[in-house]
Amino acid sequence: MSIRVVVMSTYIGPVIEARRLGKSFKDLVAVHDVSFSIDRGRIFGLLGPNGAGKTTLVKMLTTLISIDRGGAAVAGHDVAGDPDAVRRVIGLAGQVAAVDEKLSARENLALFARLYKIPRRQRRRRIDELVERFGMAEFADRLASTYSGGQRRRLDIVAALVAEPMALFLDEPTTGLDPRSRADVWDAIRVLAAEGTAILLTTQYLEEADRLADELVVIDRGRTVATGSPELLKHQLGRDVLEVHMATDTDFAAADSTLGAVEGKLGDPSSRQIDVPITTGATQSLDLLRRLEDRGVAISDFRLRRPTLDDVFLALTGNRPTDGGHDSP
Ligand SMILES: Nc1ncnc2c1ncn2[C@@H]1O[C@H](COP(=O)(O)OP(=O)(O)O)[C@@H](O)[C@H]1O
Ligand SMILES: [Mg+2]
Repeated sequence: MSIRVVVMSTYIGPVIEARRLGKSFKDLVAVHDVSFSIDRGRIFGLLGPNGAGKTTLVKMLTTLISIDRGGAAVAGHDVAGDPDAVRRVIGLAGQVAAVDEKLSARENLALFARLYKIPRRQRRRRIDELVERFGMAEFADRLASTYSGGQRRRLDIVAALVAEPMALFLDEPTTGLDPRSRADVWDAIRVLAAEGTAILLTTQYLEEADRLADELVVIDRGRTVATGSPELLKHQLGRDVLEVHMATDTDFAAADSTLGAVEGKLGDPSSRQIDVPITTGATQSLDLLRRLEDRGVAISDFRLRRPTLDDVFLALTGNRPTDGGHDSP
């Protein structure tokens, strides 16, 4: 069965536009001077660690909190000037699911359909479509309280789609999910983008940004630290990384002190791994390995690799956010 999504607008131009947005809470500048624009069918990543200002940005763009500085538009509607028009063209799904546990997926969706004033005669078909398209048939008639984390999150996102929004805001849609559920949510997001929805996705997972986003803004403490495609950001770093694994904790400690002063070095005691950015080519890698050998450090493995977004983030902010597989505290 082929299913059609009608984007109910003739609007052309960027779907989501942020112009030098800013927001403060008393003395705290939560968001400062952030700009971007997102076209139809694009997945735009807002990447940053906890407290970076991601949710604050999403809340401003979705009319939930006021904008202190700068401006924003969704589908050409000014967010501050015409919030009702903006609300009619957006969907929002958050980290905390808006799902009613005591209802099934179908019943939850029916509730949203009523909320969005979808004519009664169309509701049933619309819900069947969504259930089918996002692979929810096997659990759609069970109570939501029995769902896995991934099933619940999918229902939460699909609930935001009932009104066929032009712009979808996903605030950390996969935080706390296991890898399998995360992949399911990623699939759903890709389907939506392919059908023309403009998607703003916030994440603290570099891997997620790398895999999903066409373009990124990296923010840290409210400020933009980089913009561009994941590929561009990695390319701009312009250096490879030497990754060395030590055989034991003692070897790790010895290696860590031997390479103590090397610029950009990053050690992870739990995996006994040290990453070193390579700026001057092969001789530098050989030199580093030789220094470890001279100290009698037992190396279990090493490789030279292309930089990841993780390395980009480290270079930009001096700290490492969450890695791909785990939730952060
Ligand atoms: N309502 C609020 N009142 C005071 N401070 C807030 C409020 N909302 C967020 N903040 C602060 O603003 C900063 C950015 O928060 P947030 O946008 O939630 O970050 P993120 O979503 O990237 O984790 C944090 O320092 C946070 O503590
Ligand atoms: Mg947040």
